[in-house]
Amino acid sequence: MSIEVVTTPEQKEDDKTLDATLRPAWLSEYIGQEQVKNNLHIFIAAAKTRNEPIEHVLLHGNPGLGKTTLAYIIAKEMGTNIRVTSGPAIERTGDLAAILTNLQEGDILFIDEIHRLHKTIEEILYPAMEDYVLDVIVGKGPAARTLRLELPKFTIIGATTRMSLISAPLRDRFGGQYKLELYGEDEIEQIIHRSARILSIDIDKDSAQEIARRARRTPRIANRLLKRVRDYAQVKHAGHISHAASVAALALLDVDHLGLNMVDRKLLQTIIEKFNGGPVGAQTIAAATAEEQETIEEVYEPFLMQLGFLARTPRGRVVTEHAYRHLGMHVPQNVQEKLAI
Ligand SMILES: Nc1ncnc2c1ncn2[C@@H]1O[C@H](COP(=O)(O)OP(=O)(O)OP(=O)(O)O)[C@@H](O)[C@H]1O
Ligand SMILES: [Mg+2]
Repeated sequence: MSIEVVTTPEQKEDDKTLDATLRPAWLSEYIGQEQVKNNLHIFIAAAKTRNEPIEHVLLHGNPGLGKTTLAYIIAKEMGTNIRVTSGPAIERTGDLAAILTNLQEGDILFIDEIHRLHKTIEEILYPAMEDYVLDVIVGKGPAARTLRLELPKFTIIGATTRMSLISAPLRDRFGGQYKLELYGEDEIEQIIHRSARILSIDIDKDSAQEIARRARRTPRIANRLLKRVRDYAQVKHAGHISHAASVAALALLDVDHLGLNMVDRKLLQTIIEKFNGGPVGAQTIAAATAEEQETIEEVYEPFLMQLGFLARTPRGRVVTEHAYRHLGMHVPQNVQEKLAI
């Protein structure tokens, strides 16, 4: 039997409705990411003053931090239509041509997972983004010629969890580029209170704080945990979410009091037991734990590093003394020396 890990940030099938229900509609309802919000506010206001579509926007950051939400918010704030597609969904150049020629002036085209766009499609996008033209080839062989179609002025919003996979020419065509960071614990707590209000869940401050502490600084996980705690409270505590009920529910879900799940613990334990606490490279950790290197680097490490449990040194990852303590393990003498390298 495999145990479900509830604190993965990627969207699961039953998150879809929850995500849609809880998505803030306006910038003012969007909690946290203050810098991104301030910049976007100006970006949007300036475009509106000029009565122009906003420049193309690239949003990047870990899963579940609010990229799709922001794309919809931008459309709402601009008062425009948003069409939604994704990198892997555009298979042929004709698919993209059909989408682009159907856009109206000012429309937003949201391309999720934009790092997965095919190269040939990306190349059609360059002139479309820059000069609002579409070059189509008509005919075959020697008779083939390029036909240039004018496109309405539109905006592309791209979202990616893998900024490093976006080619430089594509990246350069986005006038606005925003990185979403992991949230502060108090921001996650506010998100939980907001979600509880929308879902008519009665939750006290202690319980919200408890869930926030364990939500890996990620709104999607916070909302998911809130829902699971509510289910538990309904079955075991006649619907009232007390602090004790939250703790019991979260323990049952294998989320410890700082939000570590079994994969986090496995990673730390592996580095400690097999590699003497590090330094060790991500690739080696991946091989030893049978987890994907990409997931380790993008999901697990940022969180463990934010907790101060893992440090990156030029020679690899090192487990810190906080992590040893958290795992109830003896702290070896040489931890500080390794970190000083
Ligand atoms: N700043 C925020 N304030 C309130 N709720 C938020 C915020 N950001 C995200 N959420 C909540 O978290 C959910 C997940 O966010 P969203 O789907 O936008 O993430 P994403 O970055 O697009 O993830 P993915 O990379 O998996 O596509 C949203 O439906 C919303 O309920
Ligand atoms: Mg998304």
